[in-house]
Amino acid sequence: MLVSHSPKFQPWWLIIPAAGFGQRMGAARPKQYLALDSRCVLEVTLSRFIGLPGLQGAVLALAPDDALAPALLANFKDFPLHYAVGGATRSASVRAALHFVQQQCVDKHTMVLVHDAARPCARRLDIEALLSCAFASKDGALLATPVRDTLKQADTDQQVLTTVSRAGVYHALTPQAFACDLLAHALDFAEQAGCVLTDDSSAIELLGKAPQLVVGHADNIKITHPDDLPLARLILQAQGHWHSAQVPLLG
Ligand code: CTP
Ligand code: MG
Repeated sequence: MLVSHSPKFQPWWLIIPAAGFGQRMGAARPKQYLALDSRCVLEVTLSRFIGLPGLQGAVLALAPDDALAPALLANFKDFPLHYAVGGATRSASVRAALHFVQQQCVDKHTMVLVHDAARPCARRLDIEALLSCAFASKDGALLATPVRDTLKQADTDQQVLTTVSRAGVYHALTPQAFACDLLAHALDFAEQAGCVLTDDSSAIELLGKAPQLVVGHADNIKITHPDDLPLARLILQAQGHWHSAQVPLLG
């Protein structure tokens, strides 16, 4: 008999901001469509969520002129996929996808997990730990890893000003999980305040709230620069998620 060890979760939605252009990557197409193995980055990222209990569906925020994702994912049957038109910033893209979730008549406390399209190496056990914590936390939760290197504050000439204590300092990762209406309110508040944010927890923090950090693995890298692509391939190989049998769809 097959015994499932996955915890049970209340219903939750996945939001994938995937409307960026990957300027720092400098490739011919957005980095979420670069080939990792036989699949592109976005396909691998989505695969990390297959079979998680409680998942109602995913909303992908896409650039307005993006025709690749719907064509590429037409045969994706593992959970329902929906599309929203992303915005000029990551926060605007997340807000657009949240709007879609809110229109599905979900309870306002329904949990949404926001996960960067560019993080294909997130581990399932870390995602499950995040979900468990988020459902028990009133201000939501995010994956994070403790900073391991010594930190230097420098001046504009890159000369050291001081050494910064790394005690209690973390890298914020994704997924990050919050109640649907709380995150929508927080993102609207941040936008009205003119704050430019690089993650969703920052918006919650602006409301004076304190999301819970969940320590995850540091191999949950965000593909950002060209060197990150071969690194992600090595990580997938080490994790046993390497699919090399087929020809990459996008070359
Ligand atoms: N993103 C988005 N909408 C934007 C900008 C970013 O949905 N207007 C998404 C990206 O597609 C990515 C995630 O947010 O999955 C994290 O952003 P980042 O790593 O900065 O990706 P890009 O903005 O594409 O890269 P760059 O900043 O180098 O241009
Ligand atoms: Mg960006």
